[in-house]
This record gives sequence, structure tokens and C-alpha cells, in this order.
Amino acid sequence: MSRLENQSILVTGGASGLGLAVVERLIEEGASVGVLDRSAEGCADLESRFEDRVIGTVGDVREYEDNERAVAACVDRFGKLDCAIGNAGIWDYNITLVDLPADKLNQSFSELFDINVLGYLMLSKAALKPLAQSQGSMIFTVSNAGFWPSGGGVLYTTTKHAVVGLIKQLAFELAPHIRVNGVAPGAISTQLKGPASLDMQDLEFPGSAMEAGASGFVPLSRLPTPAEYAGAYVFFASREDNVPATGSILNHDGGFGVRGLGPVPRGGDGLLKKL
Ligand SMILES: NC(=O)c1ccc[n+]([C@@H]2O[C@H](COP(=O)([O-])OP(=O)(O)OC[C@H]3O[C@@H](n4cnc5c(N)ncnc54)[C@H](O)[C@@H]3O)[C@@H](O)[C@H]2O)c1
Repeated sequence: MSRLENQSILVTGGASGLGLAVVERLIEEGASVGVLDRSAEGCADLESRFEDRVIGTVGDVREYEDNERAVAACVDRFGKLDCAIGNAGIWDYNITLVDLPADKLNQSFSELFDINVLGYLMLSKAALKPLAQSQGSMIFTVSNAGFWPSGGGVLYTTTKHAVVGLIKQLAFELAPHIRVNGVAPGAISTQLKGPASLDMQDLEFPGSAMEAGASGFVPLSRLPTPAEYAGAYVFFASREDNVPATGSILNHDGGFGVRGLGPVPRGGDGLLKKL
């Protein structure tokens, strides 16, 4: 089924990880896709794989002009913009307040907030007019860290809580013209990087270790793949399925909110034997 036939959708951070899986799925569902990413190689790869169905813009989500160029590229190539997906982000590799050097607080706070929060706000501003014209929507990638502690350190967790506020406020300000929703994935094995201000820009995300230990902390027992998260974005982008949704955030994290208090994170362990 092609639920996004003839839609034009822009995705930030679409060259890798979750964003890449979302781009692939949007195309499968019939959409044409713009990507704003700082990876020139990633944008070029997407353009050569999908030809005229993808238009890449190499840029930084912290720069308003880069967001404007990416929006204009979609409108010029595809004639309109139906949905803007803010997704580019970085992590803080769980650094705690105790371990954060005082002289790095300012810079690292700014770097995390500029990419994870200001970047989404820049995209929203740049996409306002075409989204109002198409009566379209915005979708933002949150995280389990938008709701619970320990999905990152104090910097990442506060940025993702701020994204929850951004979604609610924009949903209010832009109704009834533009719907604004969020997807809050749990841990995913990707290339998620850290801030350069803490020398974490080349660290390898511990995805395999998380996967190996997932049954110990995820109620649904394993880490979903990036592709398994992509359907949530299709749901929120689809004009048919998403008519009543604005200001909603889908906790799409394997069940962290129902983990319970004991050491075993699943109430249903042994269930099949008991039936
Ligand atoms: N990996 C996880 O466990 C996890 C869990 C929950 C939420 N998330 C969120 O998912 C989103 C995507 O992350 P991912 O895990 O796919 O990581 P990723 O690093 O694989 O992909 C992020 C993409 O964003 C791009 N990017 C980063 N900073 C940018 C900037 N300043 N300007 C332009 N492009 C930039 C990167 O080049 C990359 O292509 C992020 O918002 C992240 O917080 C990730």
C-alpha cells in the first residue's frame, strides 16, 4: 500500500541511522523526499540510489539558511511540502553533571541544544509557509530520554524534554493549519555521535553492547531496528490516518514506561508456561 503517494517530505539527518530508515520507508510509501544532512557523502548516496525521488541538501541544521535551502529544494523540485521531519541529533554519551568539566558546560550545553532543539525550531520556521499552504504536518524525533532519566546524561535528557515542550507549544500555535507530532524511539543501534565540545564527535555508539543486553532492560526484550521504527513516521505523515492527531507523541520504545520497579523488567516472564 502506498500511503504517502504524491507527498513531498523533508527529513533532517536522513543520511544515517533512524533518519535513513525513515527516508527509505517514505519512498516505499510513495513520497518524494528532501534530506538535509551535514554528510555530503550520505546525501550523494541517497541521490544516486533514488534519483529524482530524493533531493539532498548538504548543510547544518543549526543554520537557518540551510533549512531554508532544504525547504526551497523540496518546493522547487516537488511543487510543495506536505511534512517536515526534524530528526538530526547528537547524544552526550551519558555524561553526568559530576563528570562534566565546569569549563565545558557552556559550550557542550550550547552544542547539544543547538543541534537537538534549535535545529528543530529552525526547520519549523523555514517550513511554515509551505506547510500552512498544504495544511501539512511536522514530526519530531524525541527519545525515551524525552520522558525518563538514564537514556543519556543531563544534557541529552534535557534537550529531549525540551523537544516535548516544542511539540506541544507548536501544536497549539499552528492549529488548525499544521499538525505537530512526535515519535519517541528507544535505543537503536546507529552511528549516533557526541558533541565536539566534549571530544565525543568520533565515538562509536555502543549499539551492539545495548543489543546484547537488551533483554535485561527492554520489556519487549530486544532493540528494534531503525526500519521497525519507520512506520510511526508514516502514520503521522499520512493524511488519512492522522487527521485527529496533533500534539501527540508516540512512546515507541519497547515499553520503558511499563518496566515496573523490580529487577526483571517484564511482568509476563513465564507467561506461556502458565497458560
Ligand atoms: N540511536 C538511539 O539510540 C536513539 C534513541 C532515541 C532517539 N534517537 C534520536 O534519533 C535521531 C537520529 O539519530 P540516529 O540514532 O539515527 O543517529 P545517526 O548519527 O545515525 O544519524 C543522525 C544524522 O544526523 C546528521 N546530523 C547530526 N548533526 C547534524 C547537524 N548539525 N546538521 C545536519 N545534520 C546533522 C548526521 O550526519 C546523521 O546523518 C536523533 O534525534 C536521536 O536523538 C536515537
